[in-house]
Amino acid sequence: MQKRFYVTTAIDYANGSPHLGHAYEKVLTDVLARVRKLRGEDTHFLTGLDEHGQKVQQGAAEEGVEPQARCDRFAREFQALCEKLLVSNDDYVRTTEERHKKVVREVLQRLFDEGQIYKADYSGYYSARAEQFLQEKDKEEGEWPEIYGEVTEITESNYFFKLSQHQDWLIDHLKTNEDFIFPKFRAKQVLEFLKEPLNDLCVSRPVERLSWGIPLPFDEDYVTYVWFDALINYVSAVGYGEDRFTEYWPADAHVIGKDILSPPHAVYWPIMLKAAGIELPKQLLVHGWWMTGGEKMSKSTGEVVDPLELAEKHGPDAFRYFVMREMTVGQDSEFTSELFLTRYNTELGNDLGNLVSRILNMTARYADGIVPAATVDEEPEQELRRTWDETRDPVLEMFDGYQYNFGLEKTFAFVRAINRYVEARAPWQLAKSEDAADAPRLATSLAVLAEALRLANALLAPVMPGINAKINELLGLPPTETWDGALDWGTTLEGNQLGEKTILFPRA
Ligand code: ME8
Ligand code: MG
Repeated sequence: MQKRFYVTTAIDYANGSPHLGHAYEKVLTDVLARVRKLRGEDTHFLTGLDEHGQKVQQGAAEEGVEPQARCDRFAREFQALCEKLLVSNDDYVRTTEERHKKVVREVLQRLFDEGQIYKADYSGYYSARAEQFLQEKDKEEGEWPEIYGEVTEITESNYFFKLSQHQDWLIDHLKTNEDFIFPKFRAKQVLEFLKEPLNDLCVSRPVERLSWGIPLPFDEDYVTYVWFDALINYVSAVGYGEDRFTEYWPADAHVIGKDILSPPHAVYWPIMLKAAGIELPKQLLVHGWWMTGGEKMSKSTGEVVDPLELAEKHGPDAFRYFVMREMTVGQDSEFTSELFLTRYNTELGNDLGNLVSRILNMTARYADGIVPAATVDEEPEQELRRTWDETRDPVLEMFDGYQYNFGLEKTFAFVRAINRYVEARAPWQLAKSEDAADAPRLATSLAVLAEALRLANALLAPVMPGINAKINELLGLPPTETWDGALDWGTTLEGNQLGEKTILFPRA
């Protein structure tokens, strides 16, 4: 069995409804997975829900329901979001599933048997909101940052994982594997963090304090620290310990937000894997934050944008297009409805939507809706073809390099070139012309327009799979499943009956 391209998202906390940040991460990962699929790779795309921990337990208590019932509800919400946004995940892992808990216990037991986990007393500052012990160095200007909520001093007996022992190895790994963290500047931040000596990681919580978790296999008075539990999802969901595991592992990319890079994904996770004798993933793909009013969009601190509402109103493809076009992967972006509506109306509505309507309209009027043969090759045709040649490979390269915003920008520059071609050829004038040479020009222009639209639409497939299917249907084609052969300028559409005029993006 050939190894698949295996990509994951962070698993969302089951303590709130999904917002734009969660939706973005899923769409980004979906676009990445779809690009690999269109490129001909066998992909496996995992997302899921992080269901244990203090916040989930507290949230359920406040609501007066069982934690599991509350998790089930959020699981339905997050899964409905995926469906609505055309996210093509192959699996959805929940950390309360037996398949996951089993692997967490196995890994813990193994590390315990090998002396990588030990018991000790610990007293320190504890943040219930962040579910972690803090140190003096976490203070900012002598104060605990707002994100930690209330911080109290506590002493307890706990189990610790020997992180510190692997610090030099991790530094070396980061320095010798330049692509391990994308974008590269984030690796520098991790290395900066690693200049201070690491503390061992507390991987247990006493049951009196927290019961909603996975009991330690070697001491039932404790449950597993939620990060240690959650990170394991990446291997538990693909059958760690079974033969099939090697079909997936090592993961090709873990897509995460910048807030959970260091220490969880860039320090705990690599060291957990190393200590357990499991290969490291190939890459951490770290995106930035969606902001509103200059602040990170988050349930606990600010105003949130409901992605379902946007997708409901303007369609999932418009949502996907906007987030992928607007954000440079790795950087933050401010969300405003004005920006959304501007891109929607100008790029999707005017540039693409109107082009589709015009092509359907003109082909219906001048050729009974049937794509004619292209027999003429003059300057306007040559210029459009040249533009396509200068579009295709650079866009693929940008997509491969996670520069989706630039790839879309370039694809839309081609869409605008098609619009210029319409103006240059002015089929409505050719139709009125008495010159016999203009009849083949008219036929050619219709053929070229349909073909150019097909090509642009093929490039848009990973970002707007719904629109891709719709436009292809109007062109008499199935959805773009592979780019193999689909990006060559040809005569694919000759003789196809085009669909009825449709408005793809009604003005908003
Ligand atoms: O961190 N913009 O869950 P989570 C962009 N359960 N991305 C955002 C965002 C924003 N405003 N807000 C959140 C957790 N995210 C853990 C993960 S993984 C083993 C465990 C991203 O629900 C965030 O960066 O708080 C993270 O990647 C994902 O949404 C889930 O966040
Ligand atoms: Mg968070």
